[in-house]
Amino acid sequence: MRRKLFLSTPIYYVNDLPHIGHLYTNVVADTVARHRRARGDEVFFLTGTDEHGQKIERAAAEKGISPLALADTVVRRYEEWWKTLAITHDDFLRTTEERHARGVVELIRRMDAAGDLSLARHEGWYCTGCEAYYTDKELLAGNLCPDHPTACAWQAEENVFFRLSRYREPLLAFYAAHPDFVTPASRFNEVRAFVEAGLRDMSVSRTNVSWGIPFPGRPGHTVYVWLDALANYITALGFGGPDETLYRRFWDAADVERIHVLGKDILRFHAVYWPAFLLSAGLPLPTGIRAHGWWLRDEKKMSKSVGNVVRPDELVQKFGPDALRYFFLREMAFGSDANFSDEAFLERYNAELANGLGNAVSRVSALCRKAFGGTPPEACDDNPVRAAAEPAVAELDRAFEAFEFSRGLESIAGLVQTVDAYVASREPWKMLKSGGATPELSRVLYAAAEGTRVASAALAAVLPEASPRAQEALGAPPGPPLPWGALPTGRPLPDAHPLFPRVDVREYFQKEAPGVETKPEAAPETPMISIEEFQKVELRTARILVAERVPKSKKLMRLDVELSGETRQIVAGIATRYAPEDLVGRTVVIVANLAPARLMGLESNGMVLAATLPESGEPVILVPEAEVPPGSRVK
Ligand code: MSP
Repeated sequence: MRRKLFLSTPIYYVNDLPHIGHLYTNVVADTVARHRRARGDEVFFLTGTDEHGQKIERAAAEKGISPLALADTVVRRYEEWWKTLAITHDDFLRTTEERHARGVVELIRRMDAAGDLSLARHEGWYCTGCEAYYTDKELLAGNLCPDHPTACAWQAEENVFFRLSRYREPLLAFYAAHPDFVTPASRFNEVRAFVEAGLRDMSVSRTNVSWGIPFPGRPGHTVYVWLDALANYITALGFGGPDETLYRRFWDAADVERIHVLGKDILRFHAVYWPAFLLSAGLPLPTGIRAHGWWLRDEKKMSKSVGNVVRPDELVQKFGPDALRYFFLREMAFGSDANFSDEAFLERYNAELANGLGNAVSRVSALCRKAFGGTPPEACDDNPVRAAAEPAVAELDRAFEAFEFSRGLESIAGLVQTVDAYVASREPWKMLKSGGATPELSRVLYAAAEGTRVASAALAAVLPEASPRAQEALGAPPGPPLPWGALPTGRPLPDAHPLFPRVDVREYFQKEAPGVETKPEAAPETPMISIEEFQKVELRTARILVAERVPKSKKLMRLDVELSGETRQIVAGIATRYAPEDLVGRTVVIVANLAPARLMGLESNGMVLAATLPESGEPVILVPEAEVPPGSRVK
């Protein structure tokens, strides 16, 4: 039966450029969208950007540009990434669009009509990183946010409050009636426990943030950025606008699945606050929330504030977008955390794409060409490859439906191995040599080619570029994964180019990883120094105003930094880890009284302090734990 699916990703903040955490979510959603479309379902796939709020206002101010100019730049980068990764969203919503504001105002009007909005004084610890208040109990020592390494600030203001407390029972009843609402189940338990513990009313307007949607009927207030952002899922469909056709088709209909895909960091907003807003407004709730884990780097969540993000530009340039898509889905068990490393990427690439599928396609098509000049003339239905093919594809379908992407891919990797073992056991090259192009050889090669074609076609949602190429190389027209037997017999075969050329991992790291050259050597004997000697070193904080890569250098970055009132140029060896955009606006620690030096023809007046990662030798810059003015003394 043809089903309808509304599928969304979170909308991304525009203070940060896309990194693998963001890319992952869209690859997951895109895979689901492609997979469901191929099965004949009608899909509306939405993504976008979250452009209002204090976080964006500040980030833009630090860069000395308007929030919208900052948003425009980052949006372009997102659009480029979605194109590179072949993401097939149906719409990209920006919260600064008029159609969005209109829908937000309508949502608020309904919540107000339900008697759920009222004015009250509010105070508490606010984390700008999360755009959320925390209680004393939730804060870590030093008033640190539980999620970011930054201190929260005490804020007091008069806000519009939403009567969230009223929705404790209705939410619990909804959860009980929809046992698969949130997956993984362990995360659902956390959500339930949070609601059971009692819900406090929440403030949904701000008076100290001007970069937002004006709160209807409350001059001087803007809409709280999370209420603004969550509404995107319906405003993009035209809710509150002149044409609500899409909204009625993909949200307000009994026969549509409404699924949000997101990271566990924002689960509470989606599983508690968003359904409560919708209940209040009398609108349908999402039917499913699928929360994935975090990509970690050095065991920490990758994020801009920690400064450990990975941007996979080089990997994609070298290995293609399909390889990254495959790695994302195969390496991370959806719901759990996973480490991102080049080593793991290359291992998967070589094992399952180069030696696995890629090798099977070139080997089998070469054998077919050699023996028959094309696809084998005689088909074969009764063989161990066929017996393995149908269950493998059924398992992929089941697993993808359940968001168990790694399992689904594993089952297809298993099918490729079965083909491989079958070919190894039947030794068709020997058959050809001893008996020529016999019907028996045709049947063996047909089984191998058809098994490989089924595996390639089954991966269409994950490998949008390579899957059609693989099918073509095997003599089949690309299309949905047709059942066994769809491979035409006796058709000429084109010369195949390798789909995923093998990588020599050792060579790769010698050539590509600059860290290998800069590995820390055995520490030389360091002499003791007196405090007076140490005090001769003038350490100061400095704010990075400009950052640009030094042409022809992999390591060097040219910086203009601001100390108290003074600007100076520093050339720092930090370009192996950081992009210029990661650096501008950040406060670092420098040695301010270092004798000037020339590096690649540029004068450097100081040195940026950085720790050295033990494995890769990469530099990690030191940043003050709280905001301090540039030029502050460090001792
Ligand atoms: N703007 C809010 C979301 C509003 S949705 C109505 C926001 N944006 S964000 O830019 O911080 O991105 C959040 C999403 O990016 C996460 O939920 C997750 O999907 C993805 N990731 C960001 N960092 C991540 C990792 N390190 N690992 C995996 N995904 C993470 O929050």
